[in-house]
Amino acid sequence: EKSGYPHFMLKEIYEQPRAVMETLYGALNDQLIPEAVKLLIDAGKIYVTGAGTSFHAAEHFSITGTKLAGKPIISFISSEYDTYLPATSEGDVLIVVSQSGETMDSLKALRAFKRRGARIISVSNVIDSAIPRESHITLYTRAGPEIGVAATKTFTTQTTLLTYLAVRLGEAVGRLDVGEGKEILGNIGSAGSLVKEALESAEKLAKKLATAISRSSSAYYLSRGVGVPVAKEGALKIKEVAYVHAESYPAGESKHGPIALVENSFPVVFVIPNDSYLEALLLGNIEEMKARGAYVVGVGPEGSRTMELLNEFIPVPKAHWALTPVTHTVPLQLLAYYAAVEKGFDPDKPRNLAKTVTVE
Ligand code: F6R
Repeated sequence: EKSGYPHFMLKEIYEQPRAVMETLYGALNDQLIPEAVKLLIDAGKIYVTGAGTSFHAAEHFSITGTKLAGKPIISFISSEYDTYLPATSEGDVLIVVSQSGETMDSLKALRAFKRRGARIISVSNVIDSAIPRESHITLYTRAGPEIGVAATKTFTTQTTLLTYLAVRLGEAVGRLDVGEGKEILGNIGSAGSLVKEALESAEKLAKKLATAISRSSSAYYLSRGVGVPVAKEGALKIKEVAYVHAESYPAGESKHGPIALVENSFPVVFVIPNDSYLEALLLGNIEEMKARGAYVVGVGPEGSRTMELLNEFIPVPKAHWALTPVTHTVPLQLLAYYAAVEKGFDPDKPRNLAKTVTVE
């Protein structure tokens, strides 16, 4: 039931404030979180994997876990597991992120790592699906059923849960400053209102920008650090529902090739995390794109220094950088949604795609 929304995708975008809070309440009472933290502390190597959007959540955990807990966490796309297998042994941990819990690529990675003695932690939205059944520990997101083919609320719930896990891990290994830990936990505690604020702030502008972007055949989605998986998620969304070709890469790479493609009014969407170091670097990247006539759009914290350089700026609420997926994803989802609608496509049923991919 679409409860008055024209599409499931929009309904599910708007369900995010509740979905992230339910996921958080679940996590706070989940005795398996301390168990998962213990496995991670004792782990030899830590890997994290997934496909598509779930891979972007996996990359987010790799970044937050590595930075907050000082433990290198290796992320890979689940269908590429074979590369990492020879380096895996007893005592390693693989975290498998899968909304449906049925994705064959991710299930195969799980099985292969398990055979080599790795312990498996999964993050899923579907109780007792295949991946949870074969895992040692499963942490559940509580997004509720996602009907739209494009993943929306499952991404923000996965990243909320994984950020929480990264904080708990950082605390447990004594690497995370107490004040910083409290700040992130406080932000996670208000994740629902952060998403809500982002929705309110983005709705109008996203519609307007969707018109511009839906006329382009191609776009770049750029960021640095913790913003990179979010930029990749934005690019995936607009590809899959609005059929606009979009490429996402860490902004520092521009001058190593991709900027050659940029000409007058080429759209470049910047994800500007709430981190002054990353923001300063991105200022330079925005300038280099502008100098070539790009149409530069930014999603960033209110009052960002990048604002005056950008053609359009979508402000999102300020929060710790680790919450970038919670604060910055919503405008990108809306942009993709409205671009699809603008072009007359049904965002709930993108061509060639299935909600659950149970084949390799
Ligand atoms: C993108 C999307 C897909 C899925 C991917 C993994 O919007 O929906 O990229 O994220 O197929 O699916 P799960 O998370 O069910 O393993």
